[in-house]
Amino acid sequence: MTTTCSAPGKIYLFGEHAVVYGKRAIASAINLRTTATVSESDQTTISSILGTTGIDYMVHPYISRCIESLAVPAVSIRIDSEIPVGSGLGSSAAAVIATLGALNAEFRLMMDSATLAEVGHRIERDVQGAASPTDTAVSTMGGTMLIQPGVASSRLRLIECDIVIGDTEEFSSTKELVGNVRILHEDYPGVMDSIFDIIDNLSEIGVPLIKGRDYRSVGELMNIDHGLLDAIGVGSAKLSRLVCAARDAGAYGAKITGAGGGGCIVALVRGSSADGGGADAVASAINDAGGRAIITKASEDGVVVRETF
Ligand code: PMV
Repeated sequence: MTTTCSAPGKIYLFGEHAVVYGKRAIASAINLRTTATVSESDQTTISSILGTTGIDYMVHPYISRCIESLAVPAVSIRIDSEIPVGSGLGSSAAAVIATLGALNAEFRLMMDSATLAEVGHRIERDVQGAASPTDTAVSTMGGTMLIQPGVASSRLRLIECDIVIGDTEEFSSTKELVGNVRILHEDYPGVMDSIFDIIDNLSEIGVPLIKGRDYRSVGELMNIDHGLLDAIGVGSAKLSRLVCAARDAGAYGAKITGAGGGGCIVALVRGSSADGGGADAVASAINDAGGRAIITKASEDGVVVRETF
C-alpha cells in the first residue's frame, strides 16, 4: 500500500520569538505544501532533495525521528516540497506533519489531529532543542490561528487578502537565533520581557482586526512587530531592505516571518488593482530589492491524506 499526505507551511503575522516565552502569536497556513509519500518496503529509505538515505540524523533528522518515534516497520518515504528550506516558512514542521500523517494512515495508527500536532511538536523539540507549538499546530490544523502556549490553539477568521513572501535566500538557523535571543534575555530580562509583552499585546489586538478584515490596521501592527524583532537582534540589512521595498510598493504592512537572521519577510497586500500597490507591484519591488518574491494566500487546509491504495 502507498499513502500520500501533504501539510502546509506557515507565516507569522505576530509573535515569533515571544511565543517561546509563553506569549501569544498569530500564524497562518499558506498554500505552499510539503508532500510525504510512504509505502511499506523491505528496508527503510528516505528520499528528498537532500538525497536518499536510511535512518540518518545528519541528512534527514526530522524524518528519521518520525519513523523511530512511531516505531513503524521498514518503509520507503519520499518528501517533495514547495516550501523553501530554512527560510522561516515552517518547512521542517510541514515535512514532519506530512510524514506523521502518512505513517498514521499507512499503518492505521489511529492518531487524531491533536495527537499528530503534539507528536510533531515533540519531534521538532527533540531535533532543534527548542520549538514552540506554532509550526506543528498550524501545519496540522491549517487556517489562521491564535497560538497560546499551554492553552489549546484557536482558529480565527482566515486572512483573505493576498500575501507576498520575500525570501532573502539567506539561511536562517532557528536554533541559533533562539539561542541569541535567550542570551539577550538573560542579560536584560526586564527589557526583553517588556518587548515580549508588547508583542503579546499586538497578537491580542490583532484578533478582532482580523475578524473585521481590517488588514490596513493589521499591517500597521505588523510594522511595529518588525521594529521589535529588529530590536531583539533578529533583523538583517537584507530583511530590512525587503520590508521597506514591500511597504514602499503599497503593502498594508511587512515584517520578518519566523526566526529571522535570514529567511523571509511577509507582506499583507490588497489584491492587484488599477491604482497599484497590489500583489504584483509588491512582488516586483521585492525582486528588484534582491529578494525572491512568492505570491500566496492563506489556506484553510491543514494535513490532508490524499490517496491510499
Ligand atoms: O523560522 P521558523 O519557521 O522555524 O520559526 C521560528 C519561530 C520562533 O518563534 C523563533 C521559534 C519557535 O519555535 O516558535
